[in-house]
Amino acid sequence: MSPMRARLKNAKLKTSVPPRWRKEVERVLITEAQLARRVKTLAGEVEKDFRGREMVIVSLLSGTVMFLADLIRHLDLPLRLDFMGVSSYGSGTESGELVFTKELRLEVHGRDVLLVDDILDTGKTMSRVLPKIRALKPRRIKTCVLLDKPARRVEKIHADYVGFAIPDLFVVGYGLDFAERYRNLPFVGVLHPHIYQESGKTKPAP
Ligand code: PRP
Repeated sequence: MSPMRARLKNAKLKTSVPPRWRKEVERVLITEAQLARRVKTLAGEVEKDFRGREMVIVSLLSGTVMFLADLIRHLDLPLRLDFMGVSSYGSGTESGELVFTKELRLEVHGRDVLLVDDILDTGKTMSRVLPKIRALKPRRIKTCVLLDKPARRVEKIHADYVGFAIPDLFVVGYGLDFAERYRNLPFVGVLHPHIYQESGKTKPAP
């Protein structure tokens, strides 16, 4: 096979769901390469805005795991990193009840905070977390999400840095889960409806 054909075949492979996941994941929405490019660009924007400041990154567990790791390796700034644990109670339901499973440990008073989450969906999580951080009197808080799903928003909230705005699809991978699975997929994919329908959840979130 010529190098050109091999490159084309490779590019095509990356946009299709690997055979191992085809029964569960309908299609690739954002490829590994698109994620890598966009995350690097986002990091550049953050770096420009936070240069010269004492920065604390507050990342929400657990969906940010891949996004965060990729984002911070592109940030050429001194920074400190902390996590908050927050989960929708009875995930996949519409209850919207949030439970804090880990509180902040680092001092953010007078600091510049970047709050990182994987997806901004209804906005309930961010709108519960932001007042909690604001109460600690940081100098400012900026928000950064990999994915923004504006169609599902119920809270009046937006993120300062957004990787990709996406339609109202159930997405998994690159940290995002369904029932704690699929976080390890290196791409963002659309979950087959039969997966969440079989689990009895008609309208999963996100
Ligand atoms: C998901 C996601 C966001 C939140 C967004 O968290 O990680 O934090 O939902 O949804 P919202 O805008 O409707 O509040 P989840 O509770 O599923 O926890 P996880 O990060 O551990 O997957």
